[in-house]
Amino acid sequence: MEKNIYIKTFGCQMNEYDSDRIFDSLKNIGYKKTNVQNGANCYILNTCHIRDKAKEKVYHEIGRIKKLYKFKSKPIMIVAGCVAQAENQEMIKREPFIDAVVGPQAYHKINEIVKNFEKNSKVEETDFDTISKFNYFDNIKITNNRISSYLTIQEGCDKFCNFCVVPYTRGPEYSRPFKKILSEVEKLINNGTKEIIFLGQNVNAYYFEEQSKKYRLSNLINEVSKYSEIERIRYITSHPRDMTDDLILSYSNKKLMPLVHLPIQSGSNKILKLMNRKHTVEKYIEVYEKLKKINSNIEISSDFIISYPGETDKDFLETLNLIDKIRFINSYSFIFSPRPGTVASKLELINKDISQERLEIMQKKLFDIQKFKNKSFENKIIDVLVENKLKDQNKFFGRNKYMSSVIFNGSQKNIGKIVKIQIESSNQNNLFGKILNNTKEKAA
Ligand code: SAM
Ligand code: SF4
Ligand code: F3S
Repeated sequence: MEKNIYIKTFGCQMNEYDSDRIFDSLKNIGYKKTNVQNGANCYILNTCHIRDKAKEKVYHEIGRIKKLYKFKSKPIMIVAGCVAQAENQEMIKREPFIDAVVGPQAYHKINEIVKNFEKNSKVEETDFDTISKFNYFDNIKITNNRISSYLTIQEGCDKFCNFCVVPYTRGPEYSRPFKKILSEVEKLINNGTKEIIFLGQNVNAYYFEEQSKKYRLSNLINEVSKYSEIERIRYITSHPRDMTDDLILSYSNKKLMPLVHLPIQSGSNKILKLMNRKHTVEKYIEVYEKLKKINSNIEISSDFIISYPGETDKDFLETLNLIDKIRFINSYSFIFSPRPGTVASKLELINKDISQERLEIMQKKLFDIQKFKNKSFENKIIDVLVENKLKDQNKFFGRNKYMSSVIFNGSQKNIGKIVKIQIESSNQNNLFGKILNNTKEKAA
């Protein structure tokens, strides 16, 4: 009998990478990926725990699946990811439809869980066994054949910002061996990848030592840029404290894209201290200025937390002033959400209406800048790496240097190439344009 797996992914890019690798592993025991929700024998929800609503989304999703399978035999239901790690047994108690909870550092055990599945047995795997996990996956064939590919180089976090669950759900910092990463890059190149996006919860804290040689993110960027097939390199997410000079200097490398996602969270030093962020606004601006000095075209994107306990109007205003100074090309902003087990979960919350008002003020400012920056591309010719054809339209999709999505008329042969696009219009999230010199014959 054909066995199908449906994987639904929530949360960050690291979960997307993990879901791909989980599928690669299950393929070895005969599973095929399906996009038909009620046609699966095995269902995996790869979850995120970063804000409270994320957890509720998981239970809602399970509720929907339960309805789909009311008159069919029940699929194996596995909850993976950060909610699985944080809630473990609690999830099985709250929702008996769940058969197994598997934390992010235990994915090497998923095949065994599925193979040995027995009705009514419940499994919990939440050990932080990061080395065994990566050793296992190093020997699993990669099926991802995307033009732009994620590659996790670092996992976990030792920084313990007072608001954040990541150190508890992903475990301590671990950096993968340098050579293993290069070998994964080569596999991705063989599958057709043109862009590598290095991933880590603290990607710029990457540090690996072997035979007294020390490797950092800058070494990886330099080494990967030597592959002629790789056109573009990016990394996400970095911490301001780990923006070392060697990494900043890497921006002279043309393959490293001039967009730095550098979360600051707040523009008030008082709040940064209360958050235990381990950097100041001045340190952040210093990094920003150094980056601009290396390449004035570099753009910065960021993350903000609004209404962290203790945030006064003055603190909030300082964040707005910082936004005016840096003019972020793109940003994520959320109201503080207390997470169980973190230091900040015990602090007094700021009134909901005030928080909502601050969110709206901040997002208006951020989105206006984003729209303005997108508009500045109109009537310009830009380089776009073409990723795929849009499903429901006769249009193609790619990204510019700054990760903005670009939609244009193209053809199948453009996929995987960097093409010139004349931008005609834009909105907050997209640029729209037409391709120039679409055929080599014309260009010649
Ligand atoms: N490591 C990155 C850093 O240090 O900036 C952040 C990684 S975290 C997965 C992504 C973003 O989620 C954070 O930058 C923060 O803005 C947001 N976040 C984390 N915990 C949060 C909370 N309790 N409430 C609201 N937003 C939160
Ligand atoms: Fe979370 Fe990032 Fe802070 Fe680590 S550095 S605790 S991942 S916000
Ligand atoms: Fe969410 Fe875990 Fe990523 S909490 S943001 S899936 S590291």
